[in-house]
Amino acid sequence: MENGLNGKVVAVTGGFGSLGLATAQLLAERGARVALIGRGAAPEAAALPAELANALCMGGVDLVDAKAAQTAFGALQEKLGALDALVNVAGAFRWETVGDGDAHTWDSMFDLNVKTALNASKAALPHLVQSGAGRVVNIGAGAGLKAGLGMGAYSASKAGVARLTEALAEELKDKGVTVNAILPGIIDTPQNRADMPGADFTRWVQPREIATVIAFLLGEDAQAITGALIPVNGRM
Ligand SMILES: NC(=O)c1ccc[n+]([C@@H]2O[C@H](COP(=O)([O-])OP(=O)(O)OC[C@H]3O[C@@H](n4cnc5c(N)ncnc54)[C@H](OP(=O)(O)O)[C@@H]3O)[C@@H](O)[C@H]2O)c1
Repeated sequence: MENGLNGKVVAVTGGFGSLGLATAQLLAERGARVALIGRGAAPEAAALPAELANALCMGGVDLVDAKAAQTAFGALQEKLGALDALVNVAGAFRWETVGDGDAHTWDSMFDLNVKTALNASKAALPHLVQSGAGRVVNIGAGAGLKAGLGMGAYSASKAGVARLTEALAEELKDKGVTVNAILPGIIDTPQNRADMPGADFTRWVQPREIATVIAFLLGEDAQAITGALIPVNGRM
């Protein structure tokens, strides 16, 4: 048994994206039973890492829609019989200045970063409480602490994820469920490499490095940590 994850059922939203897939893979390596939930179509089994051969893949779930979230988590509970942890990775980024931008972007960032985590958490909550030692880990962002140029809408939405984390942690303190957030800096993803070809990629945090912190937060050793916002920046 490594890190106390053996047999734990963990849902990873945004599970088909860069960080979500790396997280699901590491958790499966450490013995968790993993469910990947995503908005796009689920990848073919052959396209997934071998560790995820038995993972439950649920595609076509738009977590901005509270009803879709409820339906997905109901189906997950039925198929896997339990839910011990939720990792809210689903989210999106948009760079846009205030002057050239649109209020719609602020709504969209709030939907994709806050409401996805809110709706998944609400849908998972009864199952997590039932688990007896439930865990929620949200993916915020370092940018949620302070906005830079063009980062207003995204930063405000990730600040929302941080506040959701703190409020839910307080709400669940006496129910045995911990709620924490990781605040990544720039993650070394194919998208970021394409967007910033001149950058020093070696300074960026690897998805797997974030996944190991998530695994720690899901394990028994992290039982006393709740409401924490943890920067994971690599060497930025
Ligand atoms: N990349 C970075 O440098 C960085 C830095 C700090 C924080 N973060 C955060 O880390 C998380 C993962 O980032 P990433 O780079 O791995 O991004 P990614 O590859 O784009 O993965 C995000 C995933 O979330 C899914 N998603 C988006 N909206 C959804 C919805 N409404 N319902 C269900 N799933 C939805 C996407 O599915 P579709 O593709 O089907 O839409 C995608 O698979 C995000 O929350 C992001 O804000 C990233």
